[in-house]
Amino acid sequence: MISIRPAVPADGPRLVALDRATWSVENAVVPRWAEDTDFFERRSPDDVLVAERDGRPVGYAGLGHPTPLECNRHVLHVQGLAVDPACHRQGVARKLVEAAVAEARRRGARKLGLRVLGGNERARALYASCGFVVEGVLREEFFLGGRYVDDVLMARDLSR
Ligand SMILES: CC(C)(COP(=O)(O)OP(=O)(O)OC[C@H]1O[C@@H](n2cnc3c(N)ncnc32)[C@H](O)[C@@H]1OP(=O)(O)O)[C@@H](O)C(=O)NCCC(=O)NCCS
Repeated sequence: MISIRPAVPADGPRLVALDRATWSVENAVVPRWAEDTDFFERRSPDDVLVAERDGRPVGYAGLGHPTPLECNRHVLHVQGLAVDPACHRQGVARKLVEAAVAEARRRGARKLGLRVLGGNERARALYASCGFVVEGVLREEFFLGGRYVDDVLMARDLSR
């Protein structure tokens, strides 16, 4: 049974471990975090949803504004999503994304967006199946693993 809850500061080390376990050049634009990274150094636990199975965090999704601009306040982004490889394909990410949609609505957002690497087929399929559509593609935006990779901008309209 998977449940979703807001993060608490004590989740930090486990969330870093989840991120490290799922990191690859297929899904990340920053280097793999060190084990002692402070997960909450740049974000609040209030902006992170944790998926739990039997009391153990098995995934997380971050929420944040894409820019600090007042005129962009109606937009939230999914910023970071990872699920324990031992729990893949069991609907954990779908629950996290739906919880992020519900939280974005609760905060009054009109749109929930995200950025996903062009080659990250699993994540792209997940987001598409959760109602996100491609709004744009930044061609060959990143050089990762020896290749130029597209950055795909997707979003779900929450205004209706
Ligand atoms: C992408 C990721 C979060 C998916 O997590 P998950 O819990 O396995 O996904 P779910 O079981 O909820 O799958 C939901 C849907 O996503 C798609 N999906 C997930 N894994 C897939 C795979 N291996 N191949 C194809 N589609 C896949 C499917 O549409 C799936 O629905 P279905 O099972 O009914 O067909 C996970 O693979 C992961 O942690 N990847 C590394 C980190 C990452 O890429 N994060 C996203 C950065 S933008």
